[in-house]
Amino acid sequence: MSQTLVTYFSASGVTANAAKILAQAAGADLYEIKPEVPYTRADLNWMEKKSRSTVEMNDPSSRPAINGKVEHMDQYQNIFIGFPIWWYREPSIIDTFLESYDFTGKRIILFATSGGSGLGKTAEGMKKLVPGAKVENGRMFNGKVSEADVKAWVQSLNL
Ligand SMILES: Cc1cc2nc3c(=O)[nH]c(=O)nc-3n(C[C@H](O)[C@H](O)[C@H](O)COP(=O)(O)O)c2cc1C
Repeated sequence: MSQTLVTYFSASGVTANAAKILAQAAGADLYEIKPEVPYTRADLNWMEKKSRSTVEMNDPSSRPAINGKVEHMDQYQNIFIGFPIWWYREPSIIDTFLESYDFTGKRIILFATSGGSGLGKTAEGMKKLVPGAKVENGRMFNGKVSEADVKAWVQSLNL
């Protein structure tokens, strides 16, 4: 069994594609963070003040429910967490995920896709939710994702 897990949330498939390439390159297990209530197109409308994503992202205590669970989280030492950047940070469902397990002593490496924003202070914010873990801003996967490039990156991480 692998000691490395790639987890991801993806509302429209872009992060899912990167996650699959990453899991392959890292020889890691793959787990999709699925919302209990899937996001509709209307939910994702960031121009709309009352859309679900806007309401959730404006409320730091929002914790959208996840459908399912990672079996044997204790077996993993390195956990990649991938997501689309929403309002310059991780979607609230990632906060739900972080609070659902004991990540003490584990290495968490973030990756993301976006329309252009970077990870910014995402790791700093997430660290507050999992104080016992090491949380690192990994990298963005915007544009075409090259398998060779991802492999080289994974190797440089010394997992
Ligand atoms: C609610 C919402 C907020 C977003 N906020 C940002 C943002 O702050 N910066 C940015 O560059 N892209 C933003 N985006 C664009 C997504 O990050 C981008 O389309 C991403 O690749 C989608 O990934 P997915 O297909 O895995 O869901 C936002 C998208 C949504 C739906």
